[in-house]
Amino acid sequence: MKRRLLIVDDDRDAAHLLTNQLAGSQLIEICGVASSVDEAWAKLQQSRPDLVLLGGIKETERGVLSQQFRLAFPHLSFIAACATHELVWEPFFRNLGIYVIAKPVQSGQVEALAMMAPGLGMDARFPPQPQQYFSQEQQGNITFSQDQLTEPSPVFNSQKQSGIKHLITVYGPKGGVGKTFISRELAIFFSTQKKEGRPLKVLAVDFNLDLGTFATTLNLPRTPNLFTWVQDLDKQLHTLAQKRGVDPYSVRQEEWQEFASLLPLSPQHIEKYVVGHTESGLDVLTSPRDIRQSFEIRDYHLYLILETLKQSSYDVILIDTAPDTTDATIQALFFAEHVVMVGTPVVDSIENIQRLLKLLREAEYPEERIQVCMNRLQRKEMFTLEEIRAYFQLHPSKRIFSIPDDGDVKKSINTGIPVMMQAGRSAAKEAIETLGKALFPVDEETKKPAAKGKQSEKPSLFRWLWG
Ligand SMILES: Nc1ncnc2c1ncn2[C@@H]1O[C@H](COP(=O)(O)OP(=O)(O)O)[C@@H](O)[C@H]1O
Ligand SMILES: [Mg+2]
Repeated sequence: MKRRLLIVDDDRDAAHLLTNQLAGSQLIEICGVASSVDEAWAKLQQSRPDLVLLGGIKETERGVLSQQFRLAFPHLSFIAACATHELVWEPFFRNLGIYVIAKPVQSGQVEALAMMAPGLGMDARFPPQPQQYFSQEQQGNITFSQDQLTEPSPVFNSQKQSGIKHLITVYGPKGGVGKTFISRELAIFFSTQKKEGRPLKVLAVDFNLDLGTFATTLNLPRTPNLFTWVQDLDKQLHTLAQKRGVDPYSVRQEEWQEFASLLPLSPQHIEKYVVGHTESGLDVLTSPRDIRQSFEIRDYHLYLILETLKQSSYDVILIDTAPDTTDATIQALFFAEHVVMVGTPVVDSIENIQRLLKLLREAEYPEERIQVCMNRLQRKEMFTLEEIRAYFQLHPSKRIFSIPDDGDVKKSINTGIPVMMQAGRSAAKEAIETLGKALFPVDEETKKPAAKGKQSEKPSLFRWLWG
């Protein structure tokens, strides 16, 4: 039986070429070609393909499109055909359960993938259910209790993410600009806030897998940590492989990825891997203790961790990242509802942000998710925020956030006492609060209960915290 392929591509020539190439295929039958989203929907209804090849559609992102299609047609398999400059997103597409091939597309590649795609039972080791990460719960193959259920398409799909859970990635393509500092302060800020009268449950995650220091900046122990979780995931994956009659020691990297997609997530067990910051109530998932451990962390581990976090009961999750473009960082960017892009008003930092914005724009990353934050601003800078905004070509409605250079920051990092937990007001504190509220609106400060009777009470840490 031939597999039915729908080609979605607004490059009509490329689509035409591939159609010709596959005309005599024994394995594939082209059941339609669409050059717009509307046309693709119509063809999906009419011709019921098994497989969709996503060439490129300017009006939308392929990640979003595949999720939307999959909701309506859960059995579909997807192939994204990527130009060389788009291949950086390969791990990301793979995490969405989309096969990736490079352009120009060769008919043989498509045929090979069509044979691998679920439904034909070609590989007896994997069950005939779709292997896409997100389709399992949509299809009800794995049952979650009600509170574990999340929106079915956690990535790319900004419309659906309103409200409840918030994943915020703090990123900046240069070291020493204040990512860790800002992550820590935002995490502490949110831990001391309420939403609809209820204190927020907040988690900070250190995604500097090799050289993370988030725990240190809060005087926290480094065990358990992310690697503890990775080891547990490996145990679960081994058990899963054995259950399916596969020797875990013969499983290749790519195959682990497939097993990972079948692993049920356990958001109720996250507690085992976090350390608590008693003073604020913040939970922290710290980076591994030993650099070598970070070498053993794979894409699919991070994917499973991020996906589990999305289903957790945390209201806000802050991810501190490394100034790189590794898969860990890219995944953290794509999983987030908000990205705080941190830089300092210095040419090299500005240049790198500009390059990153260019890359993200090319990948059609939804720019409304990015908040640019200039840290360590001094009274007189060579560049104004307006000049920086113009250089980044930000939308006129978009504001640039700033945090002043503050002499107390160094001390606060050395002592492990966040600026946000220090008594009294300061410009830095206010700036963090402003940024925090823009990312995730919290309850406006209510009247402090203690202040009802007594008018003049000394400022206290407790009152500030719980007021
Ligand atoms: N707003 C600020 N004012 C003064 N010093 C700052 C500020 N933000 C960061 N720093 C200093 O910069 C150093 C590097 O910050 P860090 O958060 O570790 O950067 P990154 O995580 O981007 O590498 C900190 O140790 C701190 O001393
Ligand atoms: Mg850092």
